[in-house]
Amino acid sequence: MIDKVLAIETSCDDTSVAIVDTSGWVYSVVSASQDLEHEEYGGIVPEIAARNHSIALIPLIEEAFKKASLNWSDVSGIAVTNRPGLVGALIVGLVTAKSLSQAKQLPFLGINHLEGHLLAPFLKDDNYSSPEDFGYPYVGLAVSGGHTSLYYITGLGEYQVLGTTRDDAAGECFDKFAKMSGLGFPGGVRLDHTARNGNPQAYDFPRSMLKEDTFNMSFSGLKSAGQRMLEGMGPELVKAHLPDLCASFQEAIVDVLIAKLEKAAKFYKVQRIIITGGVSANSRLRARAEEMAQRKKLRLVIPPLRYCTDNAAMIGYVGALRMARGEFSTIDLGPSPQALESDFK
Ligand code: KG4
Ligand code: ZN
Repeated sequence: MIDKVLAIETSCDDTSVAIVDTSGWVYSVVSASQDLEHEEYGGIVPEIAARNHSIALIPLIEEAFKKASLNWSDVSGIAVTNRPGLVGALIVGLVTAKSLSQAKQLPFLGINHLEGHLLAPFLKDDNYSSPEDFGYPYVGLAVSGGHTSLYYITGLGEYQVLGTTRDDAAGECFDKFAKMSGLGFPGGVRLDHTARNGNPQAYDFPRSMLKEDTFNMSFSGLKSAGQRMLEGMGPELVKAHLPDLCASFQEAIVDVLIAKLEKAAKFYKVQRIIITGGVSANSRLRARAEEMAQRKKLRLVIPPLRYCTDNAAMIGYVGALRMARGEFSTIDLGPSPQALESDFK
């Protein structure tokens, strides 16, 4: 019988290991960030990500057991992200999971990283649990450096993609603008802090597909407009007006995300909405989402940051539920840069 599982997440630049059970209880989650290693390149370098995963992973597994005061005989399976993500990075987690599965005679299951993000609100620990009235169905906005999509979620494995960005992810857009304006890497959080002292109406940036009758989004036009604005102004002026520039650029992204989320909640007549993924840390997005939820009488859940950014706990929860219903992978499972068509309805 499946109860507690060990979970491994290495799809991008965070190495993370967790022990989670089928109720969503997180016994431990430990992660290693690679921000310092990628900072000098101004973005994530796939080879460096893979190399660092291979250095960090085994010690993190040991730490996860130690922190939870559990050992191998307490876990009944291994969950591992095998899609979507950077292939070299995914391979490190997958090969480790397969080897441990063989060595410890435990079943394993490859997990869709995005499914983890969508079910993250159900995780629980000493300091967090979702509100008692939270449950299916809900509309979810998953917004990170690699993804920006809206889903209608009606149960485990029942995710309808309502819309997605046609080009860049919102997080990538934040990061690029931050890099071009001299804020460095990781850009999103620095831009957020700088924007707090700025006027969101100071500069006019485009809001693509805002009024169009679709849940799809597009951020590449905004990224180009941001680049043109910064180049036109030059470094001195940019520096002098950085808070206003950041606040205005941020507002354009947040306007689109909130409008699409509100539209989807209305269309699907749900009472509950969630925001997940690294960009959900953005203070303006949080404030605007709370305001919208209050206005529309919706229950908004944004899991705490440790479960919003890439983490193994969300992978473990999905893995525990799926293995409990008899789903297991075979040793020939490979990594995939994309989610599978069968992952979504
Ligand atoms: O989910 P995540 O940790 O990793 C993946 O991309 O899968 O998300 C990272 C993204 C980066 O683009 C980062 O700049 C963005 O989330 N981010 C933020 C903030 N904190 C993180 N963007 C805007 N405001 C923030 N406070
Ligand atoms: Zn992610």
